[in-house]
Amino acid sequence: MNHEIVEKNIGLMVILVVVAISFGTLVQIPPLFFDKATTTPIKGLKLYTALQLEGRDIYIREGCHVCHSQMIRPFRAETERYGHYSVAGESVYEHPFLWGSKRTGPDLARVGGRYSDDWHRAHMYNPRDVVPESNMPAFPWLFEDTIDNPITDKKMAALRMVGVPYTDEEIAAANAQVKGRTEIDALLAYLQNLGIVLKSKR
Ligand code: HEC
Repeated sequence: MNHEIVEKNIGLMVILVVVAISFGTLVQIPPLFFDKATTTPIKGLKLYTALQLEGRDIYIREGCHVCHSQMIRPFRAETERYGHYSVAGESVYEHPFLWGSKRTGPDLARVGGRYSDDWHRAHMYNPRDVVPESNMPAFPWLFEDTIDNPITDKKMAALRMVGVPYTDEEIAAANAQVKGRTEIDALLAYLQNLGIVLKSKR
């Protein structure tokens, strides 16, 4: 009987549907903000150095995340290929996170240490030189362009505002560490650091 009242009154039905959906959202999302597994960094997780942070921004600028995810799902086919599945505690300092969902190329969540710097340099300069069937674009300009007027200190200060615990000393030293370095140096510093904390325990 009561149900009939709802079915015949679309306004009431809309309100009740919204209440039902909101309840689902409340139950699922807010608890994550208080769950330690999603808010505590895993043991051994380090903050990005100034150079790695610049490398990460180059990764975003060049759209690497459009073809590469950084999220290993807990399935056997994935863990056998890429290593330990990704855990939330690895991403607590990621702003914005780069988990992605599109895999034109392989997942890169644990690519750190998988190849030598020389391999990466050859691959980034022209992927076809090392992987003949590759359709990844070449990024030759990264070898010429240098970081000339860094604002790494400002980036770190901004990250600190959202909870990344950089110290005053780290922020003060940042620009000097990246000034004049090539973009490929920065990108490699970032790539070679990806996912290494959990991988080393395998
Ligand atoms: C248009 C899509 C596309 C874009 C954009 C792209 N890649 Fe790739 N990437 C691929 C494909 C496809 C492969 C697999 C073939 C190969 O190794 O070249 C690959 C492979 C790789 C690998 C080797 C991974 C492994 O485990 O073998 C790395 C590292 C990599 N890409 C880094 C990057 C970086 C860094 C950028 C941005 C500067 C980038 N890619 C941009 C498509 C892309």
